[in-house]
Amino acid sequence: MARREQSFVCQNCGAAFGRWQGKCDACGEWNTIAEENAATALPNLPGRPQRKGRLFTLEPLTGETRDAPRLASGIAEFDRVTGGGFVRGSVLLLGGDPGIGKSTLLVQVAATLARAGERTVYISGEEAVAQVRLRAERLGLSGAPVELAAETSVEDIIATLSDKNTPRLVIIDSIQTMWTAAVESAPGTVTQVRGSAQSLIRFAKRSGAAVILVGHVTKDGQIAGPRVVEHMVDAVLSFEGEGSHHFRILRAAKNRFGPTDEIGVFEMTGSGLREIANPSELFLSERDLGSPGTAVFAGIEGSRPLLVEIQALVAPTSLGTPRRAVVGWDQSRLSMVLAVLEAHCGVRLSGHDVYLNVAGGLRIQEPAADLAAAAALVSSLANAPLPADAVYFGEISLSGAVRPVAQATTRLKEAQKLGFGRAILPDVARPVPDAARQEGAGDPALVLEPVKSLTSLVADIAARGKGQQRPNLRAGNER
Ligand code: TYD
Ligand code: MG
Repeated sequence: MARREQSFVCQNCGAAFGRWQGKCDACGEWNTIAEENAATALPNLPGRPQRKGRLFTLEPLTGETRDAPRLASGIAEFDRVTGGGFVRGSVLLLGGDPGIGKSTLLVQVAATLARAGERTVYISGEEAVAQVRLRAERLGLSGAPVELAAETSVEDIIATLSDKNTPRLVIIDSIQTMWTAAVESAPGTVTQVRGSAQSLIRFAKRSGAAVILVGHVTKDGQIAGPRVVEHMVDAVLSFEGEGSHHFRILRAAKNRFGPTDEIGVFEMTGSGLREIANPSELFLSERDLGSPGTAVFAGIEGSRPLLVEIQALVAPTSLGTPRRAVVGWDQSRLSMVLAVLEAHCGVRLSGHDVYLNVAGGLRIQEPAADLAAAAALVSSLANAPLPADAVYFGEISLSGAVRPVAQATTRLKEAQKLGFGRAILPDVARPVPDAARQEGAGDPALVLEPVKSLTSLVADIAARGKGQQRPNLRAGNER
């Protein structure tokens, strides 16, 4: 007699166990394991005839290649991230915090495509049709011929979509609300999410429609439940932003048909998401000119230069262990920069709280921001404002040397375009300054100020602060 398989599945990571337990061994979460019926057919069940393998031909790498047919969404910032538009038959997962603007973005995408004459279907499992309509009205898009439905049954959805001519784009908002009768577990469980996603992916591959699945993100930043979907879909995009800021950033975490390092920048306005074609202007727009502790970092996101202000505050501490807080940058890189400042430049920070913030709610990951962060920190400590027309970039090594970074010319060009007059950059492998200068003949040239080591940068900033008070900033050899 075939044993009926019961399995216990972690609702956080999808790991399956033979019996219930309080803690998931795979992800370490407590109380996430729930009983589910294993609907998966086991291979080689006794009594089932074993299928003989079919022969197929193996092909060489070279051969007739067809470019993946793409459907541009018409929203440039979105297409930049997907790599030029939706690929036919592909499935894309869009994750993000609740309320960040996923539905808003997708209604805009749907409306733009529908207006361009492509059949677009928007299925909402979370909101009633009236609510989606209301949003579209607010966005001024109610005239677009988007086809709407509030449905949660995957079988019904696929049957409806397969009925008439196939839509070019199907939006499922959200995958957590979908359920399929093929799986016995309760709606919302990992098994349901996985089963529903599988059916929808099969539909996409079969029909050639592009499908977007919306997925909610848990508090620790994982796409809840859909974590298990991530490896099944063709692309995973995340929509990010700080709640209190209006900027929203679309990033690709995985993309089978395009780059993963491009970002799309949007601004949430009263009438929906607005594309930001030149993010540097936005991130620098509310700049605090001439106050100590701010430095402009010339960064790169994907292929795009991005100038952003880095703010630091160094203040005497009243605590036994001084605070180190950082928003928008890596905590361990801050610790490293502080350690290098202490060890090689004689900057004593052990009695100070240190706060570092990347303006505008942006998150930067590049080590090239080291130099800008260090400049902002020293500027705050020395109470010496940095030149308002300067940009900084360069990686700091543990020895205190300033190391070169990639795409220096692109960074310099962007700085020049936005009217900056000088760049403080690594000395080694100096970029070809002429390349930056020749662009736009009328522009004033950018003055390059290469620095070899962090010590010389600290000395420069300290010299600027002369006349003002210089607490705790001593030359390294005084020790
Ligand atoms: P929504 O798209 O519903 O978020 P999600 O689907 O990711 O949960 O966006 C909701 C937020 O966006 C809400 O807090 C209000 C804000 N918003 C605007 O600021 N302007 C607008 O035009 C719209 C439609 C929403
Ligand atoms: Mg929503």
